[in-house]
Amino acid sequence: MPPDRPAPGDRPWWQDAVVYQIYPRSFADANGDGVGDLEGIRQHLDHLSWLGVDAIWLSPFYRSPMDDFGYDVSDHCDVDPLFGTLEDFDRLVADCHQRDIRVVVDWVPNHTSDRHPWFEAARSDRDDPHRDWYVWRDPTPDGGPPNNWVASFSDAEPAWTLDEATGQWYLHLFLPTQPDVSWDHPELESAMHDVLRFWLDRGVDGIRADVLHAIGKAPGLPDDAPEMLPIPHSGLNHVPEVTLPRVRKLRDLLDSYDGDRMMVGEVYLLDTSLVAQYYDDGRGLHLSFNFPPLYAPWDATSWRARVAEVEALIEPVGWPSWVLSNHDNLRHRTRYGGSESRARAAAFLVLGLRGTAFLYAGEELGLTDAVVAPDRVVDPGGRDGCRAPIPWTPAPDHGWGMTDPWLPWPPEATAGGDAESQRSDPASILHLYRRLLAARKASPALTAGAQRVVEAGEGVLAWERTDGADRRVVAVSFAAEPVDTGFGADLVVEVASDGRGEGEPFSGVLGSDSAVVLRPAD
Ligand code: GLC
Repeated sequence: MPPDRPAPGDRPWWQDAVVYQIYPRSFADANGDGVGDLEGIRQHLDHLSWLGVDAIWLSPFYRSPMDDFGYDVSDHCDVDPLFGTLEDFDRLVADCHQRDIRVVVDWVPNHTSDRHPWFEAARSDRDDPHRDWYVWRDPTPDGGPPNNWVASFSDAEPAWTLDEATGQWYLHLFLPTQPDVSWDHPELESAMHDVLRFWLDRGVDGIRADVLHAIGKAPGLPDDAPEMLPIPHSGLNHVPEVTLPRVRKLRDLLDSYDGDRMMVGEVYLLDTSLVAQYYDDGRGLHLSFNFPPLYAPWDATSWRARVAEVEALIEPVGWPSWVLSNHDNLRHRTRYGGSESRARAAAFLVLGLRGTAFLYAGEELGLTDAVVAPDRVVDPGGRDGCRAPIPWTPAPDHGWGMTDPWLPWPPEATAGGDAESQRSDPASILHLYRRLLAARKASPALTAGAQRVVEAGEGVLAWERTDGADRRVVAVSFAAEPVDTGFGADLVVEVASDGRGEGEPFSGVLGSDSAVVLRPAD
């Protein structure tokens, strides 16, 4: 078990945490087959300890046909041979805990693979006891799908597939090989609880719940409003009166364990007021992913609005979370136009704003998306670029034991952007992330102190963090020209995105696409 490290002020560990997302296929490969694995992760824990992260979140490593690269689970309680074994998992957790790194695992409650034994049984016969574990409907009189819902990863195709053999349509908000389970069926709900217990009993510290807002569907499965089409239904499904009672039970289950086990829910609704509802006044999620900032463009006005929403809507009901990149979206350096200075400045947002910070493996190296030639495309959702393998060492094999892994390398791999080269260069973005994590950990104000946005000139977003006498100011410039922030030499530069002037009084001027953490002069 991880050593007990009660946060000052009796906060649970996850409020102070920097959580590092690992996409197992792409992180590190111990057996040289070109696909990352659990042992590869274990062999790279030094990188994470050195960086200073508090927890890792592992995207799915369960048995799967890999149509959605693991988010199509065919056995929730076993490791896919591609990634290793349960023993490898136990070893990884033990080594993480020894290093005081918590482990969060993914849990996919909305759907399974169509090759999961539950679905194979369900589709075998209308009278099979597992039939109602999934969502089946008769065809409409003209033989069409039961409603107008649109599937994700499709070109506005129906979220329904007709099972010819049994003559009914089944629901799938994602691929046809990812049938939605029915949380209306108590035995399914209890089987899903058992999956959680399986991993919690194995010692994991938290759960990331995939598309959690989708587990409660509107009774009668009414059509989506025509003007909302063709947004996939997974981005629209919000039925709190059905979903929240289910989430409360999940919360109770997590809280029945010792050690502040945490559940962070993926609530893929691009409206912070909806995301906030899943905290359910302390009875729902511990953390709810809030993606509007992830989609905010690189400009101060948009970011000021996103921060204000979190302060107004999330703070009163729960603890915020911040995320800029994950395995489903272009990496933020790519989204923001590709410059490393912007990527450096953006790190001050995710690590400086009040809340739990989620980093996506490789962002600490400043990676951009790989360019994936049409004949290398493998993901049905077009997300290959952000899933490129992590370059650990210089060319040719980048520490993977082979030169041509499952996806092409990111562009930085051959430009000195590998982890080893960056580690030996104190001016690298990797060192910047490390300094930011250290500054955050060392300052109660930055870790969990109060937050107040302050004026700092056109194009700059600045905020003050305070905890008792401890005080920090963070300023991020989105401007094209240097800006006079109005902050004076009574503040010292603690961390600068370009590394310049650290430890010296702040000049007051912030360069374009740059950021600072300031502390009061002694
Ligand atoms: C979530 C995952 C994504 C997956 C989808 C379906 O959005 O993050 O990767 O494809 O759910 O499971």
